[in-house]
Amino acid sequence: MKIVIAGATGLIGKLLTKTLLNSGHSVVVLTRNAELPTTSSQPLLHFDHWDGKGEGSWHCHIDHADAVVNLAGESLGANRWTKSRKRALISSRVDPTASIVNAMKAATAKPRVFVNASAVGYYGPVEEGDVTEDNQAGDDFTSTLCVEWEQAALGAMAFGVRVVLLRSGIVLDPRGGALQKMLLPFRLFAGGPLGSGDQWLPWIHREDEVRAICFSLENERVSGPVNLASPESVTMRDFCVALGKTLRRPSGLRVPTFVLRALLGEMADIVLTGQRVVPKKLLQEGFKFRFPDLKDALENLFRKNGTLGR
Ligand SMILES: NC(=O)c1ccc[n+]([C@@H]2O[C@H](COP(=O)([O-])OP(=O)(O)OC[C@H]3O[C@@H](n4cnc5c(N)ncnc54)[C@H](OP(=O)(O)O)[C@@H]3O)[C@@H](O)[C@H]2O)c1
Repeated sequence: MKIVIAGATGLIGKLLTKTLLNSGHSVVVLTRNAELPTTSSQPLLHFDHWDGKGEGSWHCHIDHADAVVNLAGESLGANRWTKSRKRALISSRVDPTASIVNAMKAATAKPRVFVNASAVGYYGPVEEGDVTEDNQAGDDFTSTLCVEWEQAALGAMAFGVRVVLLRSGIVLDPRGGALQKMLLPFRLFAGGPLGSGDQWLPWIHREDEVRAICFSLENERVSGPVNLASPESVTMRDFCVALGKTLRRPSGLRVPTFVLRALLGEMADIVLTGQRVVPKKLLQEGFKFRFPDLKDALENLFRKNGTLGR
């Protein structure tokens, strides 16, 4: 397949690109990074520049592509959520999505499938009960963001494109994202749950995240929202205990809710709230998680090659 990926230079995108190339697919990376060359020594890999907003010569890649994956968006956890930061977080997702959909509209041969990132934040905080793809959206900031993002992506359905919305939990990768941020206190013997510790923490091993994206690309029966989270639900406390055991560090130093609120403001919602997410659609379609168990996932990420993930 010829697959165009926006946001391919990020945590998930790099591994996805590598995996697709290893499987013999050709990949076009859309990036804002002008320093990346448009040519590559790898014959199946190409780069093109875009601004993530408007039109451009990159449109030609969407024409006759088999699939488009959109992972573009500024990091939710990088800065406090001021009004202008919130606008930037939304527009860095909705604008790239809308411009890809516009490119599809203009294409003479449309892609068969559009896989667009979203997040379990769609559901907002849910304290009790399973959360499947049938659950309604919440009403906090991340819910609003995900609803707008998904609406923009669903525009591609008007041209007969199969649209998949990846409602992903925290992708476990020591090289970046939430897990990397949690590592330092653990390594300094000061790790522990954030907030009460009772909140659910939907997680997925990086390999399963990428395998599930590939599964969604290839499996024509997959469309609409898809929960990307391990079938094993854990709380923040369970997660920290498992992480402490893997790293051979204590895990009991809880950071109280009021401290996180004072430090992070509304952004603390990312870690203080959660949902018991069930990957109903993936399981129904026969997807097999390689790491359904948290202990195994962490062992794999940190103990492989005896590196403790460094
Ligand atoms: N990692 C997780 O745990 C997780 C969980 C749930 C959902 N997600 C979502 O999945 C997507 C990919 O996650 P990730 O962790 O791989 O993200 P990441 O490492 O932050 O990478 C995102 C990519 O988006 C591009 N980008 C950033 N700001 C942009 C803007 N204003 N306009 C256009 N492109 C922009 C960048 O590519 P260039 O600089 O090359 O343009 C960047 O490499 C994100 O949208 C994220 O919200 C991630």
